[in-house]
Amino acid sequence: MDRTWIPEHIALDKPNPARMYDYFLGGAHNFEVDRRAAERAIAIYPAFPLMMRVNRAFLRRAVRFLVAQGIDQFLDLGSGIPTVGNVHEIAQATNPAVRVLYADLDPIAVAHSAALLRDNPRAAVIQADIRQPETTLQRAREQDLLDFDRPIAILLAFVMHFVTEDDVADRIIATLRSVMAPGSFMVVSQSTGDGPSQEKHTSLIRLYENSTSPVVSRHPAYVARWLAGLQLVEPGIVRTPLWRPESPQDLYVDHPERASSCAAIAGVPAGAAV
Ligand SMILES: C[S@@+](CC[C@H](N)C(=O)[O-])C[C@H]1O[C@@H](n2cnc3c(N)ncnc32)[C@H](O)[C@@H]1O
Repeated sequence: MDRTWIPEHIALDKPNPARMYDYFLGGAHNFEVDRRAAERAIAIYPAFPLMMRVNRAFLRRAVRFLVAQGIDQFLDLGSGIPTVGNVHEIAQATNPAVRVLYADLDPIAVAHSAALLRDNPRAAVIQADIRQPETTLQRAREQDLLDFDRPIAILLAFVMHFVTEDDVADRIIATLRSVMAPGSFMVVSQSTGDGPSQEKHTSLIRLYENSTSPVVSRHPAYVARWLAGLQLVEPGIVRTPLWRPESPQDLYVDHPERASSCAAIAGVPAGAAV
């Protein structure tokens, strides 16, 4: 087994949501402790892995949309363990000049991303905790990859629900918004928790409380507050499968509530003062 993606001194006493997510998506960068927890989540809510696939599909659509808008730099926060269809692969397939900086808290996500990006001069990864947004941004600037004076897309896909304290989450969004130049976009997808029954949702929240990162669900109205004052891209804040699906056959377009999440893209108007 290739073990180069496993950093030394990795804690294996608790399941890790980044590695559970990898398991849900069919990846191989996870351990027994993660697989057991992931299987328990599936036993509670069998649609759980499909929720993750719906999110990944949204991320792909979002990146393609943004590249079509002329965005050529991405800051992907809570980027995860690389899997099929990473942001730089999707974006650079259309515009090879696109630059992507990934950031994640998890050492395996960072180590594996670094190995994958070794030969890509326009993509890099940093280890950062978005709960410290100023430090995260400072590390991002130190990479000299992104130009914050120009339009940028900040991606927050399925990561804000790991920031359980509302005041910390609000401060992250405010700090990130404060550095977005006119013409920039913010992308958010967030668990809403309304797919499973209340009882099952509570069981899932409990399961993640025993992982390295607990989670919190938020109502779409909460996400609307984060994006207030920005220009919401049509169709606005919607259940994730309904954000510009590519076909009526896309996963859960017929049952969008089962994805148990919402998604949105919002832009800083081109003439706005930062
Ligand atoms: C569910 S995965 C989402 C990955 C990717 N953004 C996507 O949408 O496919 C969540 C990722 O957020 C990371 N994460 C959780 N809390 C974080 C934090 N405070 N700072 C940075 N990354 C964090 C986890 O390590 C994990 O890799």
